[in-house]
Amino acid sequence: MKIAVYPGSFDPCTNGHLDVIKRASGLVDKLVVAVLTNSSKQPLFSADERASMLRLVTKDLDNVEVAVFSGLLVDYMKKINSRIIIKGIRAVSDFEYEFQMALTNRTLYEDVETLFLHTSKDYMFLSSSIVKEIAGYGGNLSGLVPNDLIPIIRGRYENPEC
Ligand code: PNS
Repeated sequence: MKIAVYPGSFDPCTNGHLDVIKRASGLVDKLVVAVLTNSSKQPLFSADERASMLRLVTKDLDNVEVAVFSGLLVDYMKKINSRIIIKGIRAVSDFEYEFQMALTNRTLYEDVETLFLHTSKDYMFLSSSIVKEIAGYGGNLSGLVPNDLIPIIRGRYENPEC
C-alpha cells in the first residue's frame, strides 16, 4: 500500500492546501496530512485545532487521514511505514527551501522520496500568513480558505482568548 505524507503547519489550512490534498490523494492509496506540533513559529491555532479543521474539510476524501506529529518528519514516516513526502510548490521562491528540506530528509532517511506538486494557478499567491493578515483586518476570506473554516478563523480574531 502506497502511503504518502503531506506535512505542514496548516495554520490554518487554505484552499491551496486543500487543492494539493485532493490531487495528491488521487495518486496514492492513502494520504496522511500531518500537522506539525513543535514548530518554532507561534501558531494562531493549536495543533489539535488545525487537525480538526483539516478533518472537517477532508471528510469526503475516503483515503485521507489527518494526524498530528512532533519531532523529525522522517521519524514519523518510518513509524507509519511511509516513504513518500508530498509538498506543494507555488513559485521558484519556494523551491530553494523545499529542495533543502528534501535533501535533508533524504540524508536522514535514504528511502524517502519527496514529490512536488505545483500549485494550481488560482492559489499561487496564497499562504496561511496571507490568510491571517486578511483575517486580522476583518477582510473577506471567501475563495481563500474552505467556506467551513471562515467562521472559525474569524472567531479566533473576534475572541482571541478562546
Ligand atoms: O507548512 P510549513 O510550516 O512550511 O511546514 C514545514 C514542515 C512541517 C514540513 C517542516 O518544518 C518539517 O518537516 N518539520 C519537522 C522537523 C523536520 O523533520 N525538519 C526537517 C529536517 S531538519
